Amino acid sequence: MERVILCAFSLVFLMMGTTITGSDTGKQEEEYRARKLFVFGDSYADTGNLGKKLGRNIARSWFEPYGMTFPKKPTGRFSDGKVLTDYLASLIRISSPIPYKIRRVGDKLMLLQNGMNFAVSGSGIFDTGNFQRNLSTQIDEFQSQIDVGVFSEHDIKFSVALIAASGNDYLHFSQLDPNYLLVSIREGNMTMFPYERKNDNHDDVLPVLLQHLHRFMDRLFAQLKADLKRFDRIGVPKVVVTNLHPIQCIPYYTRQTNYTICPANISEAVADHNRRVDRLVEELDGGSNTTTFLSLDVNTAFSNVLRQVNGAETIKYLLAPCCESSSGTAACSQVDAQGNKLYRVCRHPEEHFYWDSAHPTQAGWAAAFQYLEPSLRSFLLPCPV
Ligand SMILES: *[C@@H]1O[C@H](CO)[C@@H](O)[C@H](O)[C@H]1NC(C)=O
Ligand SMILES: *[C@@H]1O[C@H](CO)[C@@H](O)[C@H](O)[C@H]1NC(C)=O
Ligand SMILES: *[C@@H]1O[C@H](CO)[C@@H](O)[C@H](O)[C@H]1NC(C)=O
Ligand SMILES: *[C@@H]1O[C@H](CO)[C@@H](O)[C@H](O)[C@H]1NC(C)=O
Ligand SMILES: *[C@@H]1O[C@H](CO)[C@@H](O)[C@H](O)[C@H]1NC(C)=O
Repeated sequence: MERVILCAFSLVFLMMGTTITGSDTGKQEEEYRARKLFVFGDSYADTGNLGKKLGRNIARSWFEPYGMTFPKKPTGRFSDGKVLTDYLASLIRISSPIPYKIRRVGDKLMLLQNGMNFAVSGSGIFDTGNFQRNLSTQIDEFQSQIDVGVFSEHDIKFSVALIAASGNDYLHFSQLDPNYLLVSIREGNMTMFPYERKNDNHDDVLPVLLQHLHRFMDRLFAQLKADLKRFDRIGVPKVVVTNLHPIQCIPYYTRQTNYTICPANISEAVADHNRRVDRLVEELDGGSNTTTFLSLDVNTAFSNVLRQVNGAETIKYLLAPCCESSSGTAACSQVDAQGNKLYRVCRHPEEHFYWDSAHPTQAGWAAAFQYLEPSLRSFLLPCPV
């Protein structure tokens, strides 16, 4: 209702020819429009922050065949082409924001007008055991860019933040604590969350496992809440937070069934996480001073494409990745000591939803974005002409 009234008002201003245009004074009356995009999170949003020097085993996204579709060379994106960040940028009609890592080059080339991308592949809300900057540290970097004057108050006022947290925390958690076997291969069956163990011979341990997982989620969401509140203090007016995609369907898990079914029944745990994202966003929205939050339903978007619901972009290979290990032990882009490829790449990435063991192709993102766009549009562009 409120939005309808606001839109009606701006229409009146337009007709009276008194619309206040962009200025550095940051007038209250100036209508919100997302002009800068600030991005945080992991490989679903990273466009080049992972250090290439980490080498092929870790920074695979900097080696062929990554980037083969767009821009036809590796750029640090975990895809053959564009990722979520690029699609969101194009929705608000800006170029993809420059990665933080190359901000100095960007400064010289005047490439800072679109915002900045702080997301690093492999990162989580907590530390994930490597070198990747966690979410809080990424926000620290954002804050320091503001502190040194790279971005002004006015810039912030006309910005949107995207936070993509796609599951690295859970993977790391399970590695840290093997007793709880959140990721384990039991009798040939891959298990990621304890839910699937309901039917095995360890019914007695299940309540303990679930309790443990829920305690971890409590901690995770307390940290996420603290992190998200900082955007309100900084004054970012719109914050988009992704939920978890259907992790059970990534090729990493479906490979064992020759890419026919999503074997790890973790949908319950993912749904639990996603309900918490919704609740958190609602809570923050109610208590914030300047910021409105959107929980972006990546899960439904991916699921719609993977189930090929009516209207979904047709994709030939829904579970089989385009780029995969030829031996089963290597990863996309890996080579042996002689430089021989240890992977196979498909001829037509656009026929695949998944690119590598865990990431969508550009075509996959495009198909999923079809389902993300309406909510983003009404969140960011409230008065479509
Ligand atoms: C994030 O990383 C910083 C720097 O390494 C560390 O001090 C901080 O405790 C980490 N935060 C979380 C929530 O893990
Ligand atoms: C994997 O789990 C399914 C469902 O619980 C079961 O039917 C199947 O036999 C298991 N496979 C193996 C190899 O244990
Ligand atoms: C896996 O699927 C491919 C393509 O459908 C098929 O050619 C191959 O024989 C299958 N392999 C196994 C082990 O079932
Ligand atoms: C997965 O587990 C949930 C909860 O235990 C259950 O409701 C659901 O039917 C299971 N799905 C499949 C495909 O086994
Ligand atoms: C909103 O502003 C008040 C007063 O400045 C402050 O005490 C409060 O912490 C702010 N709330 C958030 C969520 O930042």
